[in-house]
Amino acid sequence: MITSDMSNNPHASGTPSNKQSVIGSRHAQIAQSVHGQRSGPEEQRLQGHWLLAKMGKRVLRPGGIELTRAMLDAVGVNADDDIVEFGPGVGKTAALLLAANPRSYTGVDPNPEGETAMGEIVGEHRQARMVKADAARTGLPNASASLVIGEAMLTMLPLERKRAVVREAARILKPGCRYAIHEMGLKPEDADRQLRNDLERGISRAIHVGARPLTLPEWVDMLEGEGFDIAATLERPMHLLEPARIVSDEGFGGAVRFAGNMIRNSAGRKRVLAMRKVFRQYDANLCAYAIVAVKRRKTEGR
Ligand SMILES: C[S@@+](CC[C@H](N)C(=O)[O-])C[C@H]1O[C@@H](n2cnc3c(N)ncnc32)[C@H](O)[C@@H]1O
Repeated sequence: MITSDMSNNPHASGTPSNKQSVIGSRHAQIAQSVHGQRSGPEEQRLQGHWLLAKMGKRVLRPGGIELTRAMLDAVGVNADDDIVEFGPGVGKTAALLLAANPRSYTGVDPNPEGETAMGEIVGEHRQARMVKADAARTGLPNASASLVIGEAMLTMLPLERKRAVVREAARILKPGCRYAIHEMGLKPEDADRQLRNDLERGISRAIHVGARPLTLPEWVDMLEGEGFDIAATLERPMHLLEPARIVSDEGFGGAVRFAGNMIRNSAGRKRVLAMRKVFRQYDANLCAYAIVAVKRRKTEGR
């Protein structure tokens, strides 16, 4: 059961059409539904990131925990921050953000798969909560956040929906405050239509959800076009499923747990290896970018 109580939520001002559920209690019983887009064995139908979570992976973003840490260093999270995280997944970054003891933390995610993990994390921090909503329509008040973070969630969206999420980040941020993204990048910058189509089709087929990485200038253009200035850009290889990255992301124990699940779960193993195969096929054309952007003040006009 998901608790839904907007009256206890000091920040939320959702429109009636924007249905939200707020998860604030560690005691709330949270549905553990795991659903994909097709019928059949779960391992065959789950979206790639939820399959990886089922196999024991906790870090679900393309540049790994190391790029997340570098991004957070560039952002400079502090105790005065009111943080909103779009698409927190199973909460790896949420835990890092909450370790800085910010004034508030709000995770925004429309999907149920991460609810149990996120429920446990927000339940341990009185200033943390989850809002069940699309990041393009959070229902959060204008200029209420000092920091918005989103990792590996824009890549999955078509261009106009990417823009809508970036616009929403701009709406809920105070001027002069930061929006940090960590997403999949496409190379080279002049990648032709054929390469783009093949790569998007190949990855989307493997992960069972659309994958639409952008080049660095395209990510930058999108952010600048929605009212941000770029403060920092960082790049790492897209090595999500490479053994060294798995150890770096999950630690030795987590990597062993993941390897054990790969041995025991043959349907899961087949899909994970198919995902890795296509990531390797396009290794030269894929990377991970983290971008820290700052919401322009009106007087800075553009
Ligand atoms: C690939 S996972 C990444 C999870 C986590 N950010 C990480 O990097 O480990 C994508 C996350 O985005 C969430 N998501 C997908 N569409 C979303 C949307 N429109 N608004 C907010 N979150 C969304 C998914 O439910 C999931 O939690």
